[in-house]
Amino acid sequence: MIPVVAKICGLSLWLVVWMVLGKPSPVSACPQNCVCYPTPMTVSCQAQNFTAVPVGVPYESQRVFLQNNRITELRVGSFGFGTQVLWLFSNNITWIEAGAFSELRDLEELDLGDNPSLHRLEGGAFRGLEKLQSLHMHRCKLTALPHDIFHKLYSLQFLYLQNHLHFLQDDIFSDLINLSQLFIHGNRIRTLSENVFRGLVNLDRLLLHDNRIRQVNRRAFRDLGRLTMLFLFNNSLAELPSQTLRDLQGIEFLRLNANPWSCGCEARPVWEWFREVHVSSSEVICASPSTRRGQDMRFLREMDFALCPLPDPGSIAGSTTTTFKTVKAGLYGKGPSTTTSVVKYELGEEELALPKLDPEEYWANYGNEDSGITVRCFELECPPEFDLPPSSSASPSVLPILSLCLLTVPIHLLFG
Ligand SMILES: *[C@@H]1O[C@H](CO)[C@@H](O)[C@H](O)[C@H]1NC(C)=O
Ligand SMILES: *[C@@H]1O[C@H](CO)[C@@H](O)[C@H](O)[C@H]1NC(C)=O
Ligand SMILES: *[C@@H]1O[C@H](CO)[C@@H](O)[C@H](O)[C@H]1NC(C)=O
Ligand SMILES: *[C@@H]1O[C@H](CO)[C@@H](O)[C@H](O)[C@H]1NC(C)=O
Repeated sequence: MIPVVAKICGLSLWLVVWMVLGKPSPVSACPQNCVCYPTPMTVSCQAQNFTAVPVGVPYESQRVFLQNNRITELRVGSFGFGTQVLWLFSNNITWIEAGAFSELRDLEELDLGDNPSLHRLEGGAFRGLEKLQSLHMHRCKLTALPHDIFHKLYSLQFLYLQNHLHFLQDDIFSDLINLSQLFIHGNRIRTLSENVFRGLVNLDRLLLHDNRIRQVNRRAFRDLGRLTMLFLFNNSLAELPSQTLRDLQGIEFLRLNANPWSCGCEARPVWEWFREVHVSSSEVICASPSTRRGQDMRFLREMDFALCPLPDPGSIAGSTTTTFKTVKAGLYGKGPSTTTSVVKYELGEEELALPKLDPEEYWANYGNEDSGITVRCFELECPPEFDLPPSSSASPSVLPILSLCLLTVPIHLLFG
């Protein structure tokens, strides 16, 4: 009888020792006003009115959440820890010193979104982030980007850049050989130059809608042979050189709606492209000439171009976008097509199945990506299973067993 009790006690003593000593220690090293969780080691300091990155974040942290604070500056030395995920969205960041992140060598995800005081960046702001896969910078107020801002970010796959950008310089993305999704919608971009997307050989999705684009260089998409999705809706495009579309060998989903398309002779190369390819496209409604207003460019007929001059060989090769510019608008008034009937475009099956990427939808999910409930809850909001016992003291239920053991072990020694 007694040996059995002693055995149980030996076991429970061992358990107690394990619970006290064997538990991961970082929880006790949690910075003030933060909550820490083990595996993956997470330090959550959100919504605490921090004005600077708190000190004392354990070096071996894997996820550090600092969103919804009032952090204003990120400097070299701000981050005395290594982490893979760093959330800094919804702060008041105004300045990021060159090299501020350079010690975060293992960083894979950096979220700087919704920092409306961030108007400019220094060239070296992201220096050293060679393992970064995902960079979120939407809802900041950047009006321009330094030409070398993305240098050496070879691992980057997702880049979100909705800001107030007016232009993108040539080769700004040229090191991003692994980039898969580039979201630069909602800026103020007016032109896309020949080499703006050079090097993006693995790009799959390019979102350029809600800008002010009126001109696209005929080779602007030259390296985008792997692109499957291009959104150009709600811009100021009247024409598009057909070569830009021909360079998109892998395109599956295209949205060109809400642009003031001209559907005179200049539309012919694009119209022909639509007849040749199999692509799920939005409607492409003509804004001019007035006789074709409201018609869908894709469904114009051969005879609509009957009065056009023969395409000049240079334009077939795509050397110019304005070959037909001088054709008088009056030409069309006499044409046979005075109908105003609009061909209704039905969404294809694949297009209906498209993941929705509306800004609203994106924002509704913003901040929820990759977040288990474990890390999003905070104190009272947390479901009960996350009320982890304090690590430094044994939980009360252990104490009776402990005292029983202390009592029975001597008895065992005395009588055993
Ligand atoms: C942060 O500051 C605001 C305004 O001063 C205050 O209402 C709020 O309680 C503070 N939050 C914390 C966690 O201290
Ligand atoms: C943001 O920081 C600036 C100083 O850099 C300060 O003037 C401003 O009040 C701050 N805004 C908020 C909302 O905390
Ligand atoms: C690019 O992505 C591929 C596949 O995701 C990965 O194997 C490769 O290491 C990445 N390259 C770099 C330089 O990160
Ligand atoms: C079109 O884009 C502009 C920004 O360029 C935006 O303000 C506007 O709301 C967009 N229109 C629609 C219908 O989404």
